[in-house]
Amino acid sequence: MENNIQEILITEEQLKARICQLGEILTRDYADKDPIIVGVLKGVVLFYADMIRQIKVPCQMDFMWISSYEGTDSTGEMIVRKDISTDIKGRHVLILEDIYDTGNSLTFVQQHLLSKEPASLKICTLLDKPSRRKPGITLQPDYVGFEVPNAFVVGYGLDYNEHYRNLPYVGVLKPEAYN
Ligand code: IMP
Ligand code: MG
Repeated sequence: MENNIQEILITEEQLKARICQLGEILTRDYADKDPIIVGVLKGVVLFYADMIRQIKVPCQMDFMWISSYEGTDSTGEMIVRKDISTDIKGRHVLILEDIYDTGNSLTFVQQHLLSKEPASLKICTLLDKPSRRKPGITLQPDYVGFEVPNAFVVGYGLDYNEHYRNLPYVGVLKPEAYN
């Protein structure tokens, strides 16, 4: 598996250090807010587990799972495969996501959760790949772990064909691993 990694972009130590920093900021920003922290499955699981332990305030956990609509044409449309199970009306909500790429997923999740009328809704993404943003996407994440270049990355929850999620770092796949 690790033979297919061309380059380690973000090491375990760098992930840990940045998540600690974000934890201090989020602990401050969410003091006395009892937030509901919504993870977007499945890519977020490793980040979620590490991040939530650094947010040292009372909070609740929830998850949603979305995927792009598998229709006859590739419209970029998303569907909810699993919705959150908490009533978020009037509550402070923080979305955790693995990567902000074209922007389709987070824009969809944001609109979906806003329709449930939370008191506030903010977004924390571990990775941001600004070079890939689709024209017309205006969402700005409130908290970003790392900006990454325009390369397909795997590890620390991120997959290629459902593999590589268990790597402890974020790396770039060798081109031959796509075939
Ligand atoms: P979007 O393009 O911003 O909608 O991102 C959609 C989803 O694609 C993300 O939540 C990730 O799960 C996945 N994704 C985007 N870029 C990468 C990547 O470089 N590696 C692995 N998964 C990615
Ligand atoms: Mg994702």
